[in-house]
Amino acid sequence: MNPENKTVIITGASSGIGEATARRFYEAGSRVVLAARSADRLHALALELDNNWERVLVAPMDVSEKAAVQQLVDQTLQRFGSVDILINNAGRGLFAAVADMDEAKLHHLFDVNFFGPLYLIQAILPMMQAQGAGVIVNVSSIIGRVTIPTSGGYCATKFALGALTDTLRMELRSSGVKVVAVFPGATHTAFTANAMGTTRPRETPRGFAVQPDRVAQAILRGVQHESRDVYVTFTDRMFVTVGRMAPRLMDWLLPRVF
Ligand SMILES: NC(=O)c1ccc[n+]([C@@H]2O[C@H](COP(=O)([O-])OP(=O)(O)OC[C@H]3O[C@@H](n4cnc5c(N)ncnc54)[C@H](OP(=O)(O)O)[C@@H]3O)[C@@H](O)[C@H]2O)c1
Repeated sequence: MNPENKTVIITGASSGIGEATARRFYEAGSRVVLAARSADRLHALALELDNNWERVLVAPMDVSEKAAVQQLVDQTLQRFGSVDILINNAGRGLFAAVADMDEAKLHHLFDVNFFGPLYLIQAILPMMQAQGAGVIVNVSSIIGRVTIPTSGGYCATKFALGALTDTLRMELRSSGVKVVAVFPGATHTAFTANAMGTTRPRETPRGFAVQPDRVAQAILRGVQHESRDVYVTFTDRMFVTVGRMAPRLMDWLLPRVF
């Protein structure tokens, strides 16, 4: 889909990958709806993008609250008349070994990383199906395909999101609505600082983490080409491919790296 003159909702637009994605889509001519909890950061981004706020809507909200999600969609329809592209990007991390994983934190993680995207999809889908067009982008992770130690809870949310994404794509095959899965690898954002849990992963080896704008460009390309799966780097793609082809090798290797 050509994003020019299209309305795109971007969750998690106050920081990192979502913020960079909002910039890229705005530059590509989209009307951008900026959603996250931090109203001040969204306002600052909106002002930077569009002084007159003609193609920007600021929507402070929490994706884990179903009523807030419906309000976001209603507000967008009221202002711009349609939603053409949905980018489910808001997400949080949790670093903890399975043995000491806090149940309440894991519930919260599923609320944000899994139920948030589900609420948005369910709120937007009837309209996209009626218009016979739309693109739904779910931002997963390379560790939403291959797990690593101390990220089991986070990986579980992204594996679940992956299952939902792949199923939805099949269910919508003749509807005109496309479903894109994005699998970023390590990206320089506030993600680790914002993550819950006690353990912290080792530093990503130098040269492996990318800037959020690189992920944003990949998301934009994914929408333009209506890609099935989007990987940001060749290394990310290899990680997932080798992980799936040689799981025993990963069982041996990954605990030595993470
Ligand atoms: N960074 C990485 O290495 C990496 C790698 C693979 C995948 N990812 C995925 O990429 C996505 C973006 O992460 P990031 O790296 O850009 O991290 P980030 O800088 O921490 O951004 C996370 C965004 O999600 C928003 N958010 C968190 N909880 C929310 C809630 N309950 N309701 C609404 N918005 C919420 C945050 O905004 P507020 O705090 O203002 O609500 C923020 O805008 C996530 O889904 C993450 O899992 C990241």
